[in-house]
Amino acid sequence: SPERTLVIVKPDGVRRGLTGEVLRRIEAKGYVLVGLRMVEATQEQLAAHYAEHEGKPFYGPLVEFMSSGPVVVALVEGHRVVEGFRSLAGSTEPTASAPGTIRGDLGRDWGLKVQQNIVHGSDSAESAARETEIWFGAGA
Ligand code: CMP
Repeated sequence: SPERTLVIVKPDGVRRGLTGEVLRRIEAKGYVLVGLRMVEATQEQLAAHYAEHEGKPFYGPLVEFMSSGPVVVALVEGHRVVEGFRSLAGSTEPTASAPGTIRGDLGRDWGLKVQQNIVHGSDSAESAARETEIWFGAGA
């Protein structure tokens, strides 16, 4: 069966009205939305989702930022979609992201303690499975 990735439109993306633009790019690329929900992330969800970043200087600001408003979580399917969505998203730092990407076209550095970079995308199929359980529950 085709691969899945877990995409989050972060609070900056939702606040700026970019949810539709992000989903449009995903669908225009040919990937399929198989799950979609808007949620206020709980501390438990964020601690689990960002466990690998615990202890890093941007961890506190990251969790605070991710709790600053609703996020839109999407489950996206297609062959090599993990790699494909990361290519659509661009690199972590919006300032350095290539034009043509979500972050390169729509993001920038706001001089804050955390990179507000509009979207998250899983870094592997294994991460996608783990993150899907966090945001959609077991059985998604
Ligand atoms: P993401 O890759 O989705 O998950 C970790 C997030 O932490 C990342 O997006 C950025 O929002 C943020 N981040 C990663 N590295 C840094 C950094 N060096 N400084 C500030 N924020 C960062």
